Amino acid sequence: MSSESNISGPIENLQWVLQAAGIAREGGAKLREFFAQGVETEYKGDVDLVTVADRTVEKLIKTRLGETFPEHGIYGEEGTRERMEGEFRWYVDPLDGTTNFAHGFPQFCVSMGLEQRPPGTAADADGTLVAGVIYDPMRDELYTAERGQGARLNGKPLKVSRVPELAEALLSTGFPSRKRHASPNVHFYQEFTLRSHGVRRAGSAALDLAYVAAGRLDAFWEFNLNPWDTAAGILLVEEAGGKVTDFAGNPFKLDSREVLASNGAIQNELVVLFQDMFAGRGLSPIPSPQEFAQRRAEKGR
Ligand code: IPD
Ligand code: CA
Ligand code: CA
Repeated sequence: MSSESNISGPIENLQWVLQAAGIAREGGAKLREFFAQGVETEYKGDVDLVTVADRTVEKLIKTRLGETFPEHGIYGEEGTRERMEGEFRWYVDPLDGTTNFAHGFPQFCVSMGLEQRPPGTAADADGTLVAGVIYDPMRDELYTAERGQGARLNGKPLKVSRVPELAEALLSTGFPSRKRHASPNVHFYQEFTLRSHGVRRAGSAALDLAYVAAGRLDAFWEFNLNPWDTAAGILLVEEAGGKVTDFAGNPFKLDSREVLASNGAIQNELVVLFQDMFAGRGLSPIPSPQEFAQRRAEKGR
């Protein structure tokens, strides 16, 4: 199926994602081949994994983006830095979920997000995220979004969930491979696990964000992600009606190292919990299972 025939609905205003989707699909097909045949795992630094699949697919995406959008810049996880002074810049993660991939755990994707940086944008300032494509090759799921045009999964419009409170939410997070002993996230993991329906750790931040956009998850947070992990997924969440901020509720910035994305309805509750935990404030007692049931009964849910 071509990428175009896989995006239905009002597509006439789409400027970038139809072509970018074809590139993500091609990259994803390559990942599928490598996954089926099995690849050697190497170490990038002390603990970060990398495979021939990461490198090959980044090279492929770099070539295809260069052919399709010759003026656009490219900032890729595996080292690509092309035309960084241009008005448009793609953030590319050729394989988000390398650890899963290397272990044969089928949860990974290609992620490509496009930022528009009008002339005069300071080097350390964000432009505007204008397009995003995430492709999950194992499920053949293609997520696309352009600013102001909504988000889609295989062509069908996406909407975030309507879950109204944390106690009824399914969440997701991730942990860094580098400096993992220095990450405070396990404390947040515990706190949020006890206050919600649960916290998944599926191993692909880009897919986690796509799942928030699709209403499969109600929120996602992580410390210290990079723009290639987040750019596409952030736009998907926003275009599906969700909200993305830092942990204090401030507007998300690509280099802010904090991402908190949700269906919007529970964003404030999450921000308050983050702030209470950072401040070491006494948190309200965690309800017992009986209290959960009683509250549900009172609300008629
Ligand atoms: C990783 C994944 C993982 C997240 C890590 C990322 P990679 O990306 O998104 O879910 O927890 O922080 O580094 O290394 O597989 O591209
Ligand atoms: Ca990644
Ligand atoms: Ca990667």
